[in-house]
Amino acid sequence: MKTDKNICSLVLLTFLFVATCQGAVSASLLWSQKAEASCTAQTSFQQCVLCDLHPKEVTLHVLNTLIVPYMDESLTLTCTSQIFLLGMMQEAATQDTSFRFSGTYFNLNLGWFVDAYNGTYASSEDQTYWEILDGNMRPTPVGVSYYQPKNGETVTFNLTNYS
Ligand SMILES: *[C@@H]1O[C@H](CO)[C@@H](O)[C@H](O)[C@H]1NC(C)=O
Ligand SMILES: *[C@@H]1O[C@H](CO)[C@@H](O)[C@H](O)[C@H]1NC(C)=O
Repeated sequence: MKTDKNICSLVLLTFLFVATCQGAVSASLLWSQKAEASCTAQTSFQQCVLCDLHPKEVTLHVLNTLIVPYMDESLTLTCTSQIFLLGMMQEAATQDTSFRFSGTYFNLNLGWFVDAYNGTYASSEDQTYWEILDGNMRPTPVGVSYYQPKNGETVTFNLTNYS
């Protein structure tokens, strides 16, 4: 009697497991078909799946009107799953070498600080720094490690004088 009961629950469990598995497989198939539609050559499959759930388009604008060679270049990430600006900068640098940057790590509270974009360094000698402006052209309240750009936002890195 006891064994029968055990077999019964085993069969039931197996059935539930298979049913759940099939559900998961068809859901993920649906998911991947949906994801394919928004995939581009530059976005990984995983990114596209995430992007379908939380689509985010963010533009990075690098502006340097102070030091030769000048720069005024924008790059739009059409499908980013990144939360923080730093991750988006890393994606942009992967897509376009002109968006490569250098930085200094301060600490857990401040995170990374941008020193250079495309080889142009800010310096205390020139009294310059790379200012980060949000979608309303206001300085971001936090640095690249913690700033969370919104969908549709353009973030500008402007080489600026301080005085
Ligand atoms: C970035 O720097 C490289 C090397 O100096 C230069 O060839 C390129 O034009 C720069 N990109 C932009 C967008 O200014
Ligand atoms: C960028 O910085 C330069 C130099 O400080 C300044 O003249 C210019 O107004 C700034 N541009 C923006 C969009 O803030």
